[in-house]
Amino acid sequence: MNQEAAAAGQALPNDMRELFDRTLDRVAQKVAEDEPRLGVEFPYVTLPDGSWDLLPASVSAGYTGEAWSHGNWFCGFWVGLLLASHLHTGDPRYMTWARERMRLVAQRADDGNTHDIGFIFESSAVPGFHITGDDWYAQIALRAADRLRARLVTTPGGAYLASWGPMDDPRGRRSSAIDTMANLPLLYWAANHSGDGSYRMAADAHAAMTAKGFLRPNWSTYHAVEYDEATGRRTRGFTFQGAGDESDWARGQGWAIYGYVESLRETRKARYLDLAEKTANYYLERLGDRLVPPWDFDAEGADAEIKDTATTAIVASALIELGTIHPDRAARAAWRARGLDMLAGLCREEFADDPAHRGLLRNSCYSRPHKQGVVSATMFGDYFFVEALCRAVMPGRFLPASSPVTPAASV
Ligand code: GLY
Repeated sequence: MNQEAAAAGQALPNDMRELFDRTLDRVAQKVAEDEPRLGVEFPYVTLPDGSWDLLPASVSAGYTGEAWSHGNWFCGFWVGLLLASHLHTGDPRYMTWARERMRLVAQRADDGNTHDIGFIFESSAVPGFHITGDDWYAQIALRAADRLRARLVTTPGGAYLASWGPMDDPRGRRSSAIDTMANLPLLYWAANHSGDGSYRMAADAHAAMTAKGFLRPNWSTYHAVEYDEATGRRTRGFTFQGAGDESDWARGQGWAIYGYVESLRETRKARYLDLAEKTANYYLERLGDRLVPPWDFDAEGADAEIKDTATTAIVASALIELGTIHPDRAARAAWRARGLDMLAGLCREEFADDPAHRGLLRNSCYSRPHKQGVVSATMFGDYFFVEALCRAVMPGRFLPASSPVTPAASV
């Protein structure tokens, strides 16, 4: 615990620190065992036998006829796990592996097909630069940020980042997904690193438009929307991975919470504080006394038994961050406690101890409608779990340090 963290009230109870340290030991061990087995491919979901299903980094998103495929949006997360394992253990092998893997992932920095380049590079090149100070990582992240910023579609009603597909494909151009909120950190980092505020403006515009286009009156969220480019009005709200167009896909709510917390930190706007808390409170209401939500809060019958631990990890990471940046001391303590409890629950109840299960968290659900990774580990769930552990155990070391947003700066 550094003095800055202690001053910000970020001391960890001893039992939690031990639990999180022990968990990071197991993470580092699993990652070191798996790294030599992956060849040039990257893990994305575990198969029923517990082994990782793999994809090359080069697989981009796109339409095949009318069918949309996300492609490999997971590859950066593996680099993130290697970097976190390096920080935790000090073992230089992880840093060598991270650099080699980064070379395989870097080709995607010029991918104009998908918003997911945010996920890919904010989990890899951004912490790679933060940890090493090596400009090579920063240049890769900036290239990707340029591509993400270029997805901005401006309308008379606001501007949004189109999520899916090449920008000259009208299907992709008019649509946006709630997941994009969690791709904004790449733009915020690029603005801070380069001094070019246009990256921040693009992210801020998207966050504001998402509040109008995606959030329902009860603070739940659509998974995806289509906008009329001539007016900026939403023409339809729909789902891709949820149970129905009007249902509450749990991970979508997690992405919204995460994105508004990040937007609060980077813009200091009171509006985003409000949205972060409202979307989080809605999530907690629907969660009730459970640790892990169902994949969709409105799933029915046997489907309602399918859980998504990735959502718990995403929300835990977001709430720990909200517990660092909230302007009010008591609220900081309360959000942090809630995030840490979720994280401890994941360590105790959902960590995959069985050596045959190669993922970190059991019981994530990638996509029930597509029958993909339905009761499995997911690479993004594992990444956000480790990001949350880093935020709890070594604040400011994996990603740049955060501090409370001062009320005077909130607008
Ligand atoms: N497509 C992002 C997600 O599965 O959450």
